[in-house]
Amino acid sequence: MAEFQKLVFSGVQPTGNLHLGNYLGAIRKFVALQKDNDCIYCVVDEHALTAQLVHEDLRGQTRAIAAAYIASGIDPKKHIVFNQSAVAGHAELAWIFNCVARIGWMERMTQFKDKAGGKNAEQVSLGLLAYPSLMAADILLYRATHVPVGDDQKQHLELTRDIAQKFNIDFSANIRKEGYGIDIKVGDEPVHAYFPMVEPLIDGPAPRVMSLRDGTKKMSKSDPSDLSRINLMDDAETISKKIRKAKTDPDGLPSEPEGLKGRPEADNLVGIYAALSDKTKADVLADYGGQQFSVFKPALIELAVSVLAPITEEMRRLTGDTSHIDAILRDGGERANARAEKTMKEVRDIIGFLR
Ligand code: TYM
Repeated sequence: MAEFQKLVFSGVQPTGNLHLGNYLGAIRKFVALQKDNDCIYCVVDEHALTAQLVHEDLRGQTRAIAAAYIASGIDPKKHIVFNQSAVAGHAELAWIFNCVARIGWMERMTQFKDKAGGKNAEQVSLGLLAYPSLMAADILLYRATHVPVGDDQKQHLELTRDIAQKFNIDFSANIRKEGYGIDIKVGDEPVHAYFPMVEPLIDGPAPRVMSLRDGTKKMSKSDPSDLSRINLMDDAETISKKIRKAKTDPDGLPSEPEGLKGRPEADNLVGIYAALSDKTKADVLADYGGQQFSVFKPALIELAVSVLAPITEEMRRLTGDTSHIDAILRDGGERANARAEKTMKEVRDIIGFLR
């Protein structure tokens, strides 16, 4: 049995301020993965249109995400950093996947239900429904095998696997006839596959960073309370204020992770500490178990500021130099396009488009 070449792909939408959830759930993992892997990191500007069509400063938001990638430590020379709309293959493959996927698969997505919930069909864009098909195209255009994301994207990655599998099965005769694809195993089944079955990389101590005001709600760009999240552009004083005001319960910290069950706010703060220091929750509790939040919060503030302040400062510097960021994105776009075109040429052959 053969295997697809390991390739890491992920993306972040250029919509609103980046927060600690985006950093710990995604960008910090992107940085760690680049050491031993070939990586492509995308600013998914086409996705930004799904929930809101007109953006005041889409270019500025796109540059801000690219700046966050680079300020966090991603090397755009060794890897690829680019914006999605620079590579036409994303939209082209998404159209094909729209015809592979079933409407029911899309309607079952919890994120679609959350975002469209309460609105009538006249108010929701077709793009919002079809969004996971574009996300599958983002990944499979490069035949990427591993995708680091936060926990909220898990269902979209399962759908990406469903789309890849249906394509592989529906077109299996053509894939063979054109001489493309490899023999892989899906579970115990041997399959001749053109697209890989992507592996989500979600693990770690903070796969879902929660709101600082309510440990049962995800930290999110759209939460009306700014105190609920730490933004990557927050200064040290703001970070300190938000952590000091973070909701907690009256008990001290337990000595084992088991003791965090049923205590969402405590669990969240310990998870954040662990992710920021590349430790496990058990390690953190070995140091802080039995302590009160009056001791733990100042330690968390110090850690968060020491990790985030240099990133914020570098993001500020980079966003002030738009020609530098634009040159990085242009170069990344050209290299991404060369890889994407190879896939699209093969996909057109498999489908039977005349050329
Ligand atoms: P987006 O832009 O909403 O979020 C970017 C990344 O941040 C993660 N994230 C979180 N992780 C932990 N805790 C949180 N509170 C939190 N909030 C957000 C998200 O899981 C994500 O990894 N559909 C994607 C973008 C996308 C994509 C792709 C990702 C488009 N194409 C292909 C991977 C591969 C999205 O909307 O992420």
